[in-house]
Amino acid sequence: MQYKRILVTAALPYANGHLHLGHLAGAYLPADIYVRFQRLKRRDIVFFCGSDEHGVPITITAEKEKVTPKAVVDRYHEANKHAFDRFGMSFDNYSRTSLALHHETAKEFFLDFYNKGILKEKTEKQLFCEHDGMFLADRYVEGTCPNCKDPGARGDQCEHCGNWLNQEDLIEPKCKICGNIPVVRETKHWYFPLGDFQQELEHYVDQRNERDGWKENVLQYCRSWFKEGLQDRAVTRDLTWGVPVPLEGYPKKVLYVWFDAVLGYISSAKEWALQKGDPDAWKPYWQKDDTKYVAFIGKDNIVFHCIVFPAMLMAKGGYLLPENVPANEFLNFEGQKFSKSRGWGIDLKDFLDEFPNADSLRYAIAVNLPEYHDSDFYLKDFQARNNNELASILGNFVNRTMTFVKNNFNNAVPPQGTLDDIDQAQLEYLRKAPAEIGECFERYRFRDGLLSVMNVARAANKYFNDTAPWKTLKENPDRCRTTINICMQTVCSLAILIEPILPNTAQKIRTMLRLTSQHTTAWDEAGLPALSDGHELGESELLFNRIEDKQIERLLDRLSDDSRKADVPRSMDAAPLKQTIDIEDFMKVDLRTAKVIECEKVKKSKKLLKVSIDLGFEKRTVVAGIAEQYQPEDLLGKTVIIVANLKPARLMGVESNGMVLAAIGENGNPVLLMPASDVSPGSTVR
Ligand code: 2FM
Ligand code: ZN
Repeated sequence: MQYKRILVTAALPYANGHLHLGHLAGAYLPADIYVRFQRLKRRDIVFFCGSDEHGVPITITAEKEKVTPKAVVDRYHEANKHAFDRFGMSFDNYSRTSLALHHETAKEFFLDFYNKGILKEKTEKQLFCEHDGMFLADRYVEGTCPNCKDPGARGDQCEHCGNWLNQEDLIEPKCKICGNIPVVRETKHWYFPLGDFQQELEHYVDQRNERDGWKENVLQYCRSWFKEGLQDRAVTRDLTWGVPVPLEGYPKKVLYVWFDAVLGYISSAKEWALQKGDPDAWKPYWQKDDTKYVAFIGKDNIVFHCIVFPAMLMAKGGYLLPENVPANEFLNFEGQKFSKSRGWGIDLKDFLDEFPNADSLRYAIAVNLPEYHDSDFYLKDFQARNNNELASILGNFVNRTMTFVKNNFNNAVPPQGTLDDIDQAQLEYLRKAPAEIGECFERYRFRDGLLSVMNVARAANKYFNDTAPWKTLKENPDRCRTTINICMQTVCSLAILIEPILPNTAQKIRTMLRLTSQHTTAWDEAGLPALSDGHELGESELLFNRIEDKQIERLLDRLSDDSRKADVPRSMDAAPLKQTIDIEDFMKVDLRTAKVIECEKVKKSKKLLKVSIDLGFEKRTVVAGIAEQYQPEDLLGKTVIIVANLKPARLMGVESNGMVLAAIGENGNPVLLMPASDVSPGSTVR
């Protein structure tokens, strides 16, 4: 399909903390590379984002700090907007969901569904804290996950197994504010009937995948949701911070944060249009069939963007659905997950204070984008990428060429003259590069695209070395002029080809080359010679400073200091001791040793292993949430400890008859418990 325009959105980050490098690798850098590339392709494209300013995490922060939620979101909105700017994000608008304009958009959608009779009204039992006098929506309640038994599950989601939960299913729920056990009270809420849209959604995902090649991780996620069957989802909450429910008589109810957040993309477009003085300018991008909409997100947002948001747009009618939702996996930092509570990671603003050239960071993240699997960011790798690739390959080529022109040709591009085979080959290579790189960007394969860009710089260095202009300068000056002319054309091409990933460097090169608006910046012309004979160059400057060991060590030290500091709350954060029980209570739990006789991954699940065990007196199957830490073969023949008298439960369609015991180690990762020496299967454990 030929599109006339492109709409791009990137997940709205919560205004509840500073952006860190993991955020950039998920949605933002890929989106920015894509948008910058499409602009160079001269496509009509708009790029919207903003702060997600509602939701319980924000009110919890406000309560902890004894400030208003507004003060929290004001602080982080400004900080994140500024950090994004320094990083070179080229949004057309960065809005915020606390704006009246956004509240109106969200209310309009809710009322439209309400008036069409789409929403279901249900009176239901919810957890209520008598101490704090409030219903415990979402993260205000914590307990044990009914699926994976992780003790830190929240009222709406278990981050450990990724399941979306209903709070009434939490085991041993506790109020997050005061720690008391909540009671159950009745309250009224409105539900969006996702199930009614299942067929249409399945068709939508298949059709768009066929048209635009969705990523495998995204498809798998959607299909497992479809397989489970979509359920009604509550779209209101008993809270006061958020978009008020636009119905008479419900002053203490707001829209669920995810209901309003996804609509923030539309509000951001509306705000942009108003700022342009053309209030309807947003409409073609959201409402005309010949627009392509691409929604960039991280993998934790897949269900909301591939299922919930499309269903809402279908229900509303007249809006475009995402043509693709390129979701990245997670970026780890120095071998561990980013974690605000454990103080592990580094905020974007702090990173840029130490290394102000954002292009070095953009490069190191782009090279490591978690496009298909989780990936890692190591500071030492960042240093090596900057010094050995950016400075030594790209920077070196530009610098040696510019210096040569300055020293030997009066800082003006020498004439091209007669071309030899080697010159033709270099020009031909350059001519083909934009299409090859562009194909990668077009298909959301940014790592491959970057590799091809750097190959242009590598090939250019090789051409410089092979033609040895420092020798031909005296021996064959015509050859030397030709070589340097072609090198200069290559520098000029690189200024366009690197722009999506390294926008500051691209601009620096354009200034050094003294390019004017007469010189093209069009992607499709990036492979053609653009500098005329005799074109005068400007002052050249070093593109990349080398990063010294001591700078990296300084950051690593700070990191270990910070995580040491974070150790204090960490130990205080240990799960509180449960109520004292009688020995009789304990004896009710039948713990046994069991030998693993077969083991395999549960299909479509990243976390679950299906483990067949022998108890001596019988064989059975249990499902364990340990697939990210253990391979099936690690378990074969091992003796584990299980709870043998647990009621059977179904996990991802597999019946589990018991629970394998594990200690919850650092990062919440399970570590299996095993007897210290041989013992027969079926032995009692006390
Ligand atoms: O996960 C997050 O950070 C959410 N604030 C993303 C919201 S994306 C969209 F719905 F706004
Ligand atoms: Zn409470």
